Amino acid sequence: MKTFICPGSFDPVTNGHLDIIYRAAALCDKLIVAVGDNVNKETTFSKQERIELLKTAIGDKPGISVEPLDGLLTDFARKKKSKTVIKGLRALSDFEYEFQMALLNKILDSEIETLFMMTNVNYSYLSSSAVKELARNAGNIEGLVPDSIKDKVLDKFKNYK
Ligand code: PNS
Repeated sequence: MKTFICPGSFDPVTNGHLDIIYRAAALCDKLIVAVGDNVNKETTFSKQERIELLKTAIGDKPGISVEPLDGLLTDFARKKKSKTVIKGLRALSDFEYEFQMALLNKILDSEIETLFMMTNVNYSYLSSSAVKELARNAGNIEGLVPDSIKDKVLDKFKNYK
C-alpha cells in the first residue's frame, strides 16, 4: 500500500492545487492531503475552514483524504506510514523555499523522499494569494477555485473594506 502525503497551507485550495492532488493520487494507493501552517504566512482561513473547503472541493473521491497537519511533516509521515511527500512546483520562485524544505525534511528523516510535480501550464500563474487579492477587490475568481467553494471564498471577503 503506497501512501503519499501532499502537504500545504491551501489558504484556500485553488484549481491548481486540485490538479496536483488528482495527478498525485493517480500515482499512489492513498493520498493524504495534509493541511498545515507555514510560519512565513498568516492564513486568512482557519485550519478547520481550509480542511472543509478542501473536503467540499474534493468530494467523495476514493483514495484521497484530507487531514490536519500539526507539528512536523516528517513526524506526520511516519505516523501515517508514508515515505513519500509530493508537492506542486510552479515557477522558479517556488523553488528556493521548496528546496530548503525538502532538504530539511531529509535531514529530519532520511527515509522520506520529496517528489515535485510540475504545475499544469494552465495554472502556472495561479496562487491562493492571487485568489484572495481578487476576492478582496470584488474580482472574478471563476475558474480559479473549484465552483463548489467559490461562494464560500467570496463570503470571507464580503465585509472587507
Ligand atoms: O502551501 P505551503 O505554504 O507551501 O505549505 C507549507 C507547509 C505547511 C507544507 C510547511 O510549512 C510544513 O511542512 N509545515 C509543517 C512543519 C514542518 O515540518 N516544517 C518543515 C521542517 S522545519
